[in-house]
Amino acid sequence: MSVTVRVPAKVNVQLAVGAARPDGFHDLANVFLAVGLYDEVTVTPAEELRVTCEGADADQVPLDRTNLAARAALALAERRGIEPAVHIHIAKDIPVAGGMAGGSADGAGALLACDALWNAGASRAELLAICAELGSDVPFSLVGGAALGTGRGEQLTALEVGGTFHWVFAMAGRGLSTPAVFREFDRLTAGLDVPEPVASQELLDALAKGDADALAAAVSNDLQPAALSLFPELADTLATGRAAGALAALVSGSGPTTAFLARDARSAVKVAEALEASGTCRTVRTTTAPAPGATVLGGTPA
Ligand code: C5P
Repeated sequence: MSVTVRVPAKVNVQLAVGAARPDGFHDLANVFLAVGLYDEVTVTPAEELRVTCEGADADQVPLDRTNLAARAALALAERRGIEPAVHIHIAKDIPVAGGMAGGSADGAGALLACDALWNAGASRAELLAICAELGSDVPFSLVGGAALGTGRGEQLTALEVGGTFHWVFAMAGRGLSTPAVFREFDRLTAGLDVPEPVASQELLDALAKGDADALAAAVSNDLQPAALSLFPELADTLATGRAAGALAALVSGSGPTTAFLARDARSAVKVAEALEASGTCRTVRTTTAPAPGATVLGGTPA
């Protein structure tokens, strides 16, 4: 018997960052939008816990117990007092260290898959609590759609989305570490009065209406200056997408993946072609949002 779960990537259409808290985390107003790039996590009973990974970025994925998928299985097994004897296989399509919550997706996927495999019967609330322990973005990977994350991003309020948005993503030639980008944010804002993070009403209205022009006017990412400071070449990628007609161009989360909102599917193809031809990024993907959260695709009988 095995269970496979499909989990989406995310883009942050607003990432408002407050000052560093005493615990080192930052209070956020984080508007997550799940997009149609997916990892698939398959769990199968095994002698002991092990993780394998396939996909273009597979060599960059840790296969030890630091992997969020392994940590998710361990967390659920510990709560149920059972052995985490499971083989977790990740079919990876979300860029690694890209600011698209790929690691978080694998954590949420493994948790949902193990819950099904072990008949653990965890409630939605328990699953969300385990996700929040694993990382700030993991609860959103479970729920998908669109949501406002407050606190360190893990306290979610579901948001309405009134249409389909067309996105293009440009993956960079190397990753960026999320803690390093937050540290750079702290350095760049040292001595400044950092305001409390608040969600933009214009942005929430644009999402609810499915209005791409209004969404483009309202997107923002407070981590973008920090990501550009650590990875200045991203400015060329952003400029390329804008020149090709993207309604908005921004760094996705802590980066270095860059995200381009297009008016429609045709415009998205044009933006993607311009990015591909520019040589300013490694790979380019077009997709739509919102996407559903972690979903059990089914299992195979023993
Ligand atoms: O929660 P998660 O493990 O995904 O966070 C990774 C890192 O990102 C944290 O160790 C911290 O450096 C930074 N972070 C932060 N404030 C947040 C979320 C993450 O400073 N709200």
